[in-house]
Amino acid sequence: MIFSMLKKFNNNSEWKEIKYPQRKFGSLKYLLSIFIILLTIFLLILSNAIPSLTFNIPVIHRSISFNWVINLLIVAIWGITIYKSVLVYFNLLKSTKSWIANNLAYMIGTLKLFDEEYFENITNDNKVIREKRIIRVIRIYYKETEKYVFVRIMRDGDRFTNEATKLGENLESSLGMELESTNMTVNYAEYIFIKRKDERIDLNSMVNKVNGSEEIKITGNISYELSKVPHSLIVGGTGSGKSFFILGKIVNYLKLSPQADLRIIDPKKADLSLLRFVTGFENKVATEANQICRILRETVELMERRYADYFNDVSAFGKTYRDFNLPVVIVIFDEFSAFMHSVDKKVAKEALDYVFTIVMKGRQAGVMIEILMQRPSADDLPTNIRAQMGFKTGLGAMDSIGYNMIFDTNSIEYKTVTEKGGGYIQIDGKHTAPVYFETPYIDKDYDFITEIEKLMKNQETIEL
Ligand SMILES: Nc1ncnc2c1ncn2[C@@H]1O[C@H](COP(=O)(O)OP(=O)(O)O)[C@@H](O)[C@H]1O
Ligand SMILES: [Mg+2]
Repeated sequence: MIFSMLKKFNNNSEWKEIKYPQRKFGSLKYLLSIFIILLTIFLLILSNAIPSLTFNIPVIHRSISFNWVINLLIVAIWGITIYKSVLVYFNLLKSTKSWIANNLAYMIGTLKLFDEEYFENITNDNKVIREKRIIRVIRIYYKETEKYVFVRIMRDGDRFTNEATKLGENLESSLGMELESTNMTVNYAEYIFIKRKDERIDLNSMVNKVNGSEEIKITGNISYELSKVPHSLIVGGTGSGKSFFILGKIVNYLKLSPQADLRIIDPKKADLSLLRFVTGFENKVATEANQICRILRETVELMERRYADYFNDVSAFGKTYRDFNLPVVIVIFDEFSAFMHSVDKKVAKEALDYVFTIVMKGRQAGVMIEILMQRPSADDLPTNIRAQMGFKTGLGAMDSIGYNMIFDTNSIEYKTVTEKGGGYIQIDGKHTAPVYFETPYIDKDYDFITEIEKLMKNQETIEL
């Protein structure tokens, strides 16, 4: 029985409760020694108590003693029992030494996640002794699988109920693992940590050919199919890495086959507008309001034309642009909110209507939009558009109000982003909650314009 109990103790995939203060097994050593001594005495008495086994064998007029067999048996029992109990002892020692349990217990101690009360004891000589005792400890459970560590903090209605939802960062640093996602319920706060650290990838490994379709890779662990997650939202303050991220994406969109047909909107005439100097992009970069509306209108018209040409009868049922080998069309709209604020209402409405049409109808025809903006604001980007963005990222340090606006949730604990290009990402069908990530790394000396020019030229020669 004790062995099956131990097995349970060692089974990794079950919820285990954190004990605080941690149970110490120091006295177990003495127990083991006492057990061995008692066992030895018992077996000695037993061996003496057994009457000597002597047989007289008349034929040979001799007696044979079988006492040595008994003694051997007793020595064997003695040896095996000691061996087994030492094993039990070490298993018990090992099972209480889980580093997760140790670190979580340590966290309970340092953050004082327990309540103490004074008790008064009256001794024999009528002295009053005040003694501090722990009366309540936060209830933490954990579970370990091959890839993840789950930590559940119970919300029992005591003072830890509130605390439970705020422990993300502390848990992350206590366990030294990356918080993948959280799951807040009325009864508990669950934190899911990823054991294998996600890796920042290099710009050049962003496009992945996976059985016939092309995947866009964002990090070592995160990738998605463009045809399934067409529209994106990228939010982040100045210097958070938006431009590097989108330029990296542009380079990789140009590596898709067929090569993506890109249209760039940059109302602030910043980094992206420089693409107008690249052959092939001359008419595809817009910086002024009228150009911006024209590009959006032309994109909507192209989409309508695709529907008319390719998706006009039942034979197209279930097909997408990929089945017709059509290039994906991507509108990249930088500084979206700045644009909405700088133009008059009529122009803003016209642009919004085009954007809305694209996000609602674009997927099947392969017409997509990526919106970049500095601050997430419900007024600048209406909910009906935001809801269609399957790919959402919030880059750089941001307050939780900002993140909540992007990801439409308010139960997540975000850590402070310090890394350039770091942030949170949520992709429909891939994540149920935003996760921390870093954009593909781009070397200081990387020359986007030259690289993009090269890729455009390659395409020309292929087309000829
Ligand atoms: N993926 C990245 N790889 C390397 N450096 C980056 C990356 N993202 C951002 N940076 C660094 O951060 C700086 C600001 O990034 P940038 O994309 O210009 O921010 P934003 O467009 O949001 O203002 C860049 O000049 C670069 O030094
Ligand atoms: Mg920028």
